[in-house]
Amino acid sequence: MSSRFAPLKNDTFLRALMRQSTEYTPLWLMRQAGRYLPEYRATRSKAGSFMGLATSPDYATEVTLQPLDRYALDAAILFSDILTVPDAMGLGLSFAEGEGPRFARPLRDEQAVRDLRSPDLASLQYVFDAVTQIRTELAGRVPLIGFSGSPWTLACYMVEGGGSDDFRTVKSMLYDRPDLMHHILSINAAAVAAYLNAQIEAGAQAVMIFDTWGGALADGIYQTFSLNYMNEVIRGIKREYDGERIPCIVFTKGGGLWLEEIADSGADAVGLDWTVHLGKARALVGNKVALQGNLDPNVLFAKPEQIRTEVERALKAFGKPGPGSGHVFNLGHGISQFTPPESVTAMVSAVHEISRQMRA
Ligand code: CP3
Repeated sequence: MSSRFAPLKNDTFLRALMRQSTEYTPLWLMRQAGRYLPEYRATRSKAGSFMGLATSPDYATEVTLQPLDRYALDAAILFSDILTVPDAMGLGLSFAEGEGPRFARPLRDEQAVRDLRSPDLASLQYVFDAVTQIRTELAGRVPLIGFSGSPWTLACYMVEGGGSDDFRTVKSMLYDRPDLMHHILSINAAAVAAYLNAQIEAGAQAVMIFDTWGGALADGIYQTFSLNYMNEVIRGIKREYDGERIPCIVFTKGGGLWLEEIADSGADAVGLDWTVHLGKARALVGNKVALQGNLDPNVLFAKPEQIRTEVERALKAFGKPGPGSGHVFNLGHGISQFTPPESVTAMVSAVHEISRQMRA
């Protein structure tokens, strides 16, 4: 079957994820379309709100492409949010200006948990339409990443009703009523797998699972309540579509101590935050998975020369990519809204230049 989409002109990112050789180290940035870009803020104010952007395929396409027009990034990521899934489950998502996300109907009692259902994918059609439109408008420039939150990270927001400093409510449920927590996580795992498969069918060329709050869990609890459910998602997603391999990335922020277990999840690549040494991670699991990361986003508040030094340190820590290994450069977490846009220019050219020299 011939693809509905233009052939890829730059597949460096996909090759690195599959641990094939590349001419340089590809990069993209978590939250690359966002408030640090003035053009994003302009589009956001036209759309009226974050959800106004995310639910309009035209706006979502516009903001997804903005960072690619400015910088030589090697991948695009769907503009959306992990919380669209619990919103579609009926929890009532809103983003107030200057505040984090809020759910009007968090899962606070047994009845609410028992009533929870995997969402009707039709209510997320705006996401799949955005994926197809973005892939079409990319016209093969770079691959498009689809994504979802991990079952556990979604549960944190669904039970807390928003962000949290200590995860008191969700952890109380986990320890008091593990049966209810497992019930939520099984529903989330099924929903996430179906959601990612629909993104793949709509045109996503790689997928990433964001487990932002897995690192808040105790050893042993992480494996049971976060990793096991990500493994379930990975087993449930299409790894090939339209004749192409669809690589899968998992990222547990704060998960460095569980690297070997995460590398056994069946994912093609593992995201790392800045607490991990890329060379040590490569020695442990680099023949099994590609690695993605891991510059501290705060490096981008330094001057261009210092940014270059830190980029070089990360690239040298990984070392010269050899056969069977792969590195995708990224930040260790999302880019800050206060980042000067010129800092990204300095980072992108440093990654491409230094990584080419290292291969020479
Ligand atoms: O990476 C990208 O460019 C794709 C878009 C993307 C967004 N959110 C857009 C967004 C992705 C991949 C996410 C994932 C996401 N969302 C995560 C996991 C990754 C991470 O950052 O830890 C989480 C935990 C969320 C939940 C979420 N969404 C929070 C806590 C917030 C508020 C905090 C903040 O930065 O404002 C959001 C809102 C959000 N999602 C914004 C963007 C660009 C900012 C909204 C705005 O424009 O006001």
